[in-house]
Parts: sequence; structure tokens; C-alpha cells
Amino acid sequence: MRTAVCLMLGIVVAGWAVGSPDLPPATLPALQPNKLYGVGLPHGDVTPATSCAAASCHGGGQTGRPGSELTTWAPDLSVGPNDPHDPHSRAYRVLFNQVSVRMARLLEPDKEKPCPPHLNQLCLKCHSVDGANPQVAAEGVGCAACHGTSEEWLTIHYQPSWKSKSNPEKAKSKFIPTKNLVARVSNCATCHVGGKDRDVNHDLIAAGHPRLAFEYTRFHYQPTYQKHWKDPDDTATYESRAWVIGQVASLRAAVEVLQARAKNSNAPWPEFAGYSCYACHQTVGNGEPRGSGTDTSKPLGWPGWEVWYTATAVPAALVAQKIFRDVPPPQLDHLKDLRYLMERRTEPGQAVPKAPSQTDVLNVTEHVLSDLDRWLLDVQQAEDKRSTSPVSSELLGQLGRDLAGSALHDGKLRNHDWDFLAAHYLGTVAMYHAGGGTAKYPGWQDPLQKLGCDLHFPRSCEGEPRFNSPGAFGTTKLNKIQYNFGRLKSGFDTSGGSQ
Ligand code: HEC
Ligand code: HEC
Ligand code: HEC
Ligand code: HEC
Repeated sequence: MRTAVCLMLGIVVAGWAVGSPDLPPATLPALQPNKLYGVGLPHGDVTPATSCAAASCHGGGQTGRPGSELTTWAPDLSVGPNDPHDPHSRAYRVLFNQVSVRMARLLEPDKEKPCPPHLNQLCLKCHSVDGANPQVAAEGVGCAACHGTSEEWLTIHYQPSWKSKSNPEKAKSKFIPTKNLVARVSNCATCHVGGKDRDVNHDLIAAGHPRLAFEYTRFHYQPTYQKHWKDPDDTATYESRAWVIGQVASLRAAVEVLQARAKNSNAPWPEFAGYSCYACHQTVGNGEPRGSGTDTSKPLGWPGWEVWYTATAVPAALVAQKIFRDVPPPQLDHLKDLRYLMERRTEPGQAVPKAPSQTDVLNVTEHVLSDLDRWLLDVQQAEDKRSTSPVSSELLGQLGRDLAGSALHDGKLRNHDWDFLAAHYLGTVAMYHAGGGTAKYPGWQDPLQKLGCDLHFPRSCEGEPRFNSPGAFGTTKLNKIQYNFGRLKSGFDTSGGSQ
């Protein structure tokens, strides 16, 4: 039971009632097999992570080893921020740090006592397990956030009768079958992209929240993220699947966030956080001619909608077709309509820019969600049946070159949107990792390095990385930059991982 909760004014909590752990179970919607396992989970009884802690269960005491999942996840105060650790167990604690406290003040500037972040339901939805009581919430993003609430399976999940159940059956008991990549990644996206009741909007970002820019394979390779599992050895098939599923699942979540924004008549519209940051936030006066790439379709200050999540949708659909041969590729026509709607500024013959109509956006988001869900559900089933086609190194080579080629042509950037380039860069890196992390493919290393260095953010005078605008976007500067492949201080790091 919650005693002290506060909801922030003006922040979306559309649709869902705020989690009420004491609802009788009968009123909770049952998980259907034709539902995404990792999204829209009903609230359950959130048992504390410590209930998984027995040495014979998950508290084996050897970080990174099977049987030591809790030991690996649990906060270890002796590790430094750059040492491998699991950030999820400190997710609640960061709600007390200076950034969070300042954020609370900036979000409610008129209040003498703004809502403390650790009592703010909005923060708690992503920084702990949604619906957990305050004591359990204090554990941060615990086991239940990713594996599901365990009241129906805690006492049986190690028995042969449970292990022989199918994934749809397990999911009915609120277990999230995380070996299924659709289940896993669409669940990560509920926090790392957002969802209908979770929005890191421009207000939060301007108040200090890091921008959420999720790309599953890059998170998966984050060298400081100490995982408590080992991924399969067939990197070619596994990593390329992870990339394409990550693309579609993240895009789906971004569209769900947009739908909630469009539904909410009190929220800012159109929401800035859905547009390319650097269309508005630019380095002033660096003398670079803008819009001089091969893409001159968008004048300066004309932000693209969710470029981060849409830029590689077409190549992802092509990859999808090659990897899941029995599944029709995701349909992208409605997505095209949605982008048009979100990016159009004037009607024909009209000079004054106009915000997109919320009603039109709502209509189209329904279709887009249904298109993406169709594909995700089919692939979720294919993942359950393990019916993926093996991926050859020739295919990876082709995909990597295609991705790099859509961003760079003859050494020139095809588009000056940072998100567009970063999305292609990360896709190319994913294929590179899928190929075992070696430069086996002629014609790769170069475009990859070029893209990587162009995405660098400038350093401060002390050489510290800082949040600003990307340093060099002009094609003229491209060739003068010292490449530093593999170490991108803007948060993208291609080193580490399993190489
Ligand atoms: C949609 C989910 C979501 C919501 C809502 C949300 N956060 Fe976060 N927050 C995240 C994620 C995910 C990260 C990690 C971002 C990353 O590194 O990519 C994060 C990171 C942070 C960080 C930086 C942590 C660090 O280690 O540096 C702070 C501070 C923070 N959030 C505070 C808040 C506060 C305060 C609120 C409520 C006002 C809030 N968050 C709401 C998902 C969310
Ligand atoms: C951020 C999400 C997340 C959190 C939090 C999390 N897990 Fe996991 N866990 C995963 C993923 C993803 C996998 C890999 C897929 C799989 O093996 O099911 C996994 C795998 C596992 C496995 C199987 C490991 C293997 O070798 O096959 C166990 C057991 C497990 N987790 C237990 C736990 C326990 C106990 C906790 C809490 C202390 C926890 N997890 C917290 C995401 C998470
Ligand atoms: C319940 C919400 C939630 C879920 C589900 C979740 N995360 Fe997180 N994740 C967070 C928050 C909040 C943070 C920030 C923690 C901090 O910095 O203190 C975070 C941090 C991270 C970081 C570190 C990011 C950085 O920039 O350093 C990685 C990597 C990560 N998560 C990966 C994953 C993956 C992979 C999954 C799915 C298997 C996942 N997360 C599922 C909430 C979540
Ligand atoms: C349509 C233009 C526009 C877009 C797109 C936009 N912003 Fe902003 N941003 C602004 C304006 C105007 C302000 C100043 C007013 C305010 O704080 O809201 C601002 C303020 C900020 C601030 C606070 C700066 C400070 O010094 O206090 C941050 C941080 C920020 N934006 C980050 C982002 C990020 C990250 C994105 C992309 C996800 C983004 N913005 C997208 C226009 C935009």
C-alpha cells in the first residue's frame, strides 16, 4: 500500500490508473499468447530481490557466474563508476543525487517543497519495479522488472514441470521469457524508450535528465554493464537478430510514447523530445555551411521526428526479411505517413507553420502500432520456435556496407542529422560485432571510422567530454580529423564486449 505518493503536474499519466498493488487478481487482464510478453504487464506482487538470494539459488557469490545472478546485480560499493557493474541496482539511489534533486526543483519551480523524486510515481516507474511497495522499490530495478513478478512461479520455477512449459504458458503466469529476444528487448524499451505512462519529455531533459536514446546492441555491448548471463556463441545470427529486433521494438515504444503525448491535451504539443535535438540545439557560429550534404531536403531548424528510431527502419526491414524468412517483413507505409504528419510544417499554399493535428496523429499511430506489433508477435513466435535462418558472413558484409553507405557516399555525409548518422553508425557497428569484431569485410573499416569520428562531441578545454553539440558536421572537416575508432567518449563505445 502506498502512503506518500505524488504525481507531477503536467506530466502524462494517461490511460492507466497508477499502479494499485491491492487490486484483486481477478480484475487484472490475463496475458494472452498473442500479446507481447514484455510489454503492458499487469501489476503483481513484487517480491524483493533478496528472496532470490539463497546461495543455492541466485546468490552464489561469484560475480558473472551462473547461480550468482543476484550477486552480480547487487550493488557493490567497492566498484568505481567505470568498473563493470549492474546499473539497475542503483537506479533508486540515483533519485537522491544532486541531479535528481535539482530536477525536482526545476520541474516544480513554484512549490516550496517539490515532490521528492523517490516518491514521484513517474520516476519510480522506471527507476524501480512498477507497482512495488516503497520498501521493495528501494531495491531499484530488481529482478521482477525484467523477469516478471513471481507470485505464481517463485516456488516452482526450478522444477522440471515448470521448465517443460512453453513460453506462452510461462508468460500467462507473468514470467517474462527473457531468452526470447522480442520479450527481452521490448521490455528493456519500456524504460529505456518509454511507454504510455512513462515519458522522459523535454521538460525532464531540460531539467537534467539524460536523453533516452536506446539501441539494444550498443547497450548490450556497454563495457561497464556487467551482465549476469552469457549470450549464445553464434554471434552472426544472434547479434544481427538482436539489432533488428532492437530497432523494431524501440521504434514501437517510441510510437507508443507519441500516442500518449497526442492523447494528452494538457501536455506540450508537439513535444520537443520527439524531434531531432540538434535541429534546434546547434553550435553557434562555427562557420560551417549547413545543409550542404547530399540531403538538402530539410532546411536548417527543420527537425526530423524520432530520427533516432526511424532512420534505419528500412534497412532493418530488409535484414528482418533475411533473418526471419517465414515472417513477412514489417510494413512501413503507415510509418511513412506518420513521419510526414509529424515533420510537415505548412499546408500547401499556407505560409504559417502549423503543429500536426493530434487527432490525425492518434489515428495514424494506431495503424503504425498495429503494423509493428504484427511483426513483433510473429517474430516472438519464431523466437519461441527458434526458427531463424543462419546468417552468413557475406550477408553481414553486405548489410554493414549498405548501412554505412546510406550514411556516407564518396566520403560525404548523406544527411546532417546527428541521430541519423549515429543510428547508421550503431547499425554498422552491430554488424561488425556480429562478424566477430574483426575487419574481415573490405570497405568497412573506413566508413565506420569516418562516421564514428564525425559523431564526436567536442571536449571541454580540460579535455573532459561534455554534453554539447557534435563537433564537426561539415563535410570539409571530415578528412582532417584524427580517427579514434573504438573509443567514442560521447557514450558510444565499440570496445569491450566479447572480442
Ligand atoms: C521512461 C523511464 C524513465 C522515467 C520516467 C525517468 N527516468 Fe531517469 N532514467 C531512465 C533511464 C533508462 C536512465 C538511464 C539513461 C541512460 O544512461 O541511457 C535514467 C537515468 C537517470 C539519471 C542519471 C543516472 C546516472 O547514473 O547518472 C537520473 C539522475 C535520473 N534518471 C533521474 C530521474 C528522475 C528524478 C525522474 C523523475 C522526475 C526520472 N529519472 C524519470 C529512465 C527514466
Ligand atoms: C535489466 C533486466 C534484468 C534484471 C534487473 C535482472 N535480469 Fe536476470 N536476466 C536478464 C536477461 C536479459 C537475461 C538473459 C536471458 C535469459 O537467460 O533468460 C537474464 C538471465 C537470468 C538468468 C538465467 C541465466 C543463465 O545463465 O541462463 C537468471 C537465473 C536470472 N537472470 C536471474 C535474475 C535475478 C535473480 C535477478 C535479480 C537479482 C535478475 N535476474 C535481474 C535481465 C535481467
Ligand atoms: C524498470 C525499468 C528498466 C528496465 C526494464 C531496464 N532498464 Fe536498464 N536502466 C534503467 C535505469 C533507470 C537506468 C539508470 C540507472 C542508473 O544510472 O542509476 C538503467 C541503466 C542501464 C544501462 C546503463 C546505461 C548507461 O548509459 O550507462 C544499461 C546498459 C541498461 N540499463 C541496459 C538494459 C537492458 C539491456 C535492459 C533489458 C534487458 C534494461 N536495461 C531494462 C531502467 C531499466
Ligand atoms: C524545437 C526545438 C527544440 C528541440 C527539437 C529540442 N530542444 Fe531542447 N530546448 C529548446 C529550447 C527553446 C530550450 C530552452 C527552453 C527550455 O528550457 O525548455 C531548450 C532547452 C534544453 C535544455 C536545457 C538547456 C539549459 O542550458 O538549461 C536541454 C538540456 C535540452 N533542451 C536538450 C534537448 C534534447 C536532448 C533534445 C532532443 C531529445 C532537445 N533538447 C530537443 C528547443 C528544442
